[in-house]
Amino acid sequence: MASNKKTVPFYGTEEQKEQLLKVIQELRDEKGCLMPIMQKAQEIYGYLPIEVQKIISDELNVPLEKIYGVATFYSWFNLNPKGKYEISVCLGTACYVKGSGDIYNKLMEKLDIAGGECTPDGKFSLDACRCVGACGLAPVMMVNGEVYGRLTVDDIDGVLEKYN
Ligand code: FES
Repeated sequence: MASNKKTVPFYGTEEQKEQLLKVIQELRDEKGCLMPIMQKAQEIYGYLPIEVQKIISDELNVPLEKIYGVATFYSWFNLNPKGKYEISVCLGTACYVKGSGDIYNKLMEKLDIAGGECTPDGKFSLDACRCVGACGLAPVMMVNGEVYGRLTVDDIDGVLEKYN
């Protein structure tokens, strides 16, 4: 789970808020409306930060803890935005046995974020993923879809520098 030790500033617009309030208005009387509203909210904002969860909580009169619980339980909700550069490290079996766990840990250390988080400047986000079909290149990581293979932890600085 995300550590939340770093947070990216929230830049929601009035227009996005209006859209969300409209969605809430439309769905609020339907049974089981919380999930669809949260999904729509994520579509509007691209992720589901605590500020957006608060709006939903206030409007529906549902405790924030409950909304936070749902948001953290289901993996399709993102509590953090994606970075300009989306890094994903393959933790599939072939990559894992060749050390992708170390690569992932090194990236968390270098970027000073946990998996699922984004650096406060919005530049890099970090996630783990399953097999991306490039097992011959294990261990593999991707940056915005560009594949880097046969990595060691010593390669990480060089890869990140390409995006600086
Ligand atoms: S396990 Fe990583 S690419 Fe297949």
